[in-house]
Amino acid sequence: MSENIVWHQHQVSHQDRCQQKQQKPCVLWFTGLSGSGKSTVANAVESLLFENNNHSYLLDGDNVRHGLNKDLTFNDSDRVENIRRIGEVAKLFTDSGLIVLSAFISPFRADRQQVRDLFQDGQFVEVFVDTPLEVCEQRDPKGLYKKARLGEIKNFTGLDSPYEKPDKAEIHLRTDGKPVEILAEEVIGYLRQSKFIR
Ligand code: ADX
Repeated sequence: MSENIVWHQHQVSHQDRCQQKQQKPCVLWFTGLSGSGKSTVANAVESLLFENNNHSYLLDGDNVRHGLNKDLTFNDSDRVENIRRIGEVAKLFTDSGLIVLSAFISPFRADRQQVRDLFQDGQFVEVFVDTPLEVCEQRDPKGLYKKARLGEIKNFTGLDSPYEKPDKAEIHLRTDGKPVEILAEEVIGYLRQSKFIR
């Protein structure tokens, strides 16, 4: 970074934005295997937030990889860069007063920690979408596990690329056999209890 760049203070402060939106912003960082249900649960949470008059935005792995991150592959270093960029975007959106939901595999613990470190204490809420690999592979909503097993996709998370489980996720969703509505309510309950929303 150039030493000639100075951080610009805006006239409308972060506090003003929070006050206007009547909420305390945070990032709900969903992490889990492909097919674990990250996007599905995040979508359900966002609908409940909307009904509750909260202001939010959902950043989704597949969508962001169509635009901002379309230059990135699934090798280790590109995954690191994928998460770094998303973390910075999430930080800007949170600063704008929004409750940000992000749904990326984000397989590496160190990368998730790096994003956590961008935020104030308590503002980064890690949500582990804990679905066993066998269940994800059985669901295989995009047919990608099948392709990976056939060797048509390399570096597939859970098969030939690692997934490092969170060891201190604020919310641990054991998804197997639970309806999405119940899982979404678990997240909303946490947000209420921690006074992010009313
Ligand atoms: S991350 O590992 O860099 O966080 P991200 O969440 O952006 O991944 O993208 C994951 C999505 O990309 C998966 O849900 C799946 O649809 C698709 N995908 C394509 N190739 C792979 C791969 N090798 N490993 C995992 N997911 C892949």
